[in-house]
This record gives sequence, structure tokens and C-alpha cells, in this order.
Amino acid sequence: MRPKIICHMVSSIDGRLRVDRWTAPAAGIDAAALRGRYDEIAARLDGDGWIVGRKTMEPFARGQARMAPATAHFPRVPHVAGAGGRDLAVAIDPHGRLHYGRDDADGDHIVAVLGEQVSDAYLAELRADGVSYVFAGPDGQDIARAMDRLSELFAVRTLLLEGGGMINGAFLKAGLIDEISLLVYPAIDGLAGIPSIFGYAGDTDERPAAGRSLRHFATETLDGGMVWLRYRIEPEPGTD
Ligand SMILES: NC(=O)c1ccc[n+]([C@@H]2O[C@H](COP(=O)([O-])OP(=O)(O)OC[C@H]3O[C@@H](n4cnc5c(N)ncnc54)[C@H](OP(=O)(O)O)[C@@H]3O)[C@@H](O)[C@H]2O)c1
Repeated sequence: MRPKIICHMVSSIDGRLRVDRWTAPAAGIDAAALRGRYDEIAARLDGDGWIVGRKTMEPFARGQARMAPATAHFPRVPHVAGAGGRDLAVAIDPHGRLHYGRDDADGDHIVAVLGEQVSDAYLAELRADGVSYVFAGPDGQDIARAMDRLSELFAVRTLLLEGGGMINGAFLKAGLIDEISLLVYPAIDGLAGIPSIFGYAGDTDERPAAGRSLRHFATETLDGGMVWLRYRIEPEPGTD
């Protein structure tokens, strides 16, 4: 059984993700205090860890690629290096492009979600770093299966899906999101084509959220004019 997944994001009022492009807060409103709300609210969601796409994990993965020829063959089964009671920092990295050099991101234990085609040398590097890993099928696209493994191996009940837009879109398309927790920051981007909180890369006639409906269950207005919106995702009436 997979964990409950809450997609927790902060966006401008037009749903855009590039914080560096947003308009400045109005006079007298502290931008740093506004930005700090994201982590404060995440803590209130009481997750057992967080999940991000490969690109969003990059700033946390500052190790050097070692990739020495592997002297061992590792069967493509999950490896638990030991979370030691820490929350999980889960990176969806199908090709094994991230090099950590450590076993934590912001103090949380790193778990890489990989495709089975990654090399033995890469798996040896993760093991040496103390990083855990699970597989998401041959090409790393079976994220539902990977979520099941996380529940089984780490006993996680709730995970926060924290972007970027591409990985959020993939989870949305796979029907893996149970709730949305969206902080609407009092700012505008305004430029067409800037990534938004969901960015599934599909054909023009695809509808990644087809068959689902949003049920609003809470709204809170925070200091500085940030608005916290919460929705449950349910099957669209008549489709379940
Ligand atoms: N405002 C916010 O709350 C917020 C939150 C998070 C991130 N961000 C920003 O968003 C930007 C990164 O977002 P992003 O959407 O470009 O990248 P992302 O979602 O962080 O990562 C995308 C990568 O995930 C991997 N992936 C694995 N399975 C996938 C699948 N089924 N579908 C798509 N990708 C899959 C791919 O790696 P490979 O290319 O290796 O295959 C893909 O390139 C950063 O600038 C970050 O700062 C903002």
C-alpha cells in the first residue's frame, strides 16, 4: 500500500513557479517572512518525508561523480542504508544523474528512485554514500510501484510532493496525489510559458487530471496576504 501523497507548493497568483521572477511584496510586507511560511506549513502537514524531481534535488546533490568500474553486480532490488528515524528526502532520478556525496538532504535521509538500467558503478557510489534506493521499473517511470516500496521498506504513511512542475505532473497523471496544499504568494509572474505547479509533458489533447475532481476543505489567510488553499483529490463523479 502506497503512502498518502500531499502535493505541497507555493506559487504566484498565476500559478507560476519561478520565485526569482515574482513581483515584490507590497510596502511593509516582509518577503523573507513570506518565504518562510512554506516550511512552517510543511511542518504542519506532518509528513514522514518529501519527494522531488531530479532537477529540484540538484542543489542538494553536491557530490562528485565517482563511477569507478564496479567490482560487484547488484541485483535490482531495493537497498536500505538506514534512515535512523529520520524523515525521507526522496529524489525521482530515473537515469541516476545525481551525485550526493552524503546520505542526507537538509538532515533527511536520501532515497533515490531509479530505473533498473542504471549502472552497477552508480549503485556502488550510492551505497558508499549511505544513500538508500528503490527501483521504478526498467526505465524509472513506474512511480506507483516505487511509492509502494517506500511504504513497505520505511513504514512511511504520508509524503509531501514538493515539485517541480514536471514531477508533480507525472504524479498527477499517475493518479498518485491525494491532497493539494497550495500557498498562493501575493505576486504575479505574467509571462506565457513560465512553468506552473503542474507541467505534465504530453500530447496537446492529453488531460493529465482527467477523471479527478477537487474537493476544497480548508482556506487560511496568513500574515502578509499569503493564502493557503487545501483540496482533496477524489474520483470524478460517475467515474469510480
Ligand atoms: N515554487 C515552488 O514551490 C517550487 C518547488 C519545487 C521546484 N521549484 C522549481 O522548479 C524548477 C524545477 O522543476 P522542473 O519541473 O523543471 O523539474 P523537476 O520536476 O524537479 O524534475 C524533473 C525531472 O524529474 C525526472 N523525472 C522522473 N520521472 C519523471 C516523469 N515521469 N516525468 C517527468 N520527469 C520525471 C526527470 O529527470 P531526467 O531529466 O534525469 O530524466 C525530469 O527531468 C526549479 O527551478 C525549482 O527551483 C519550485
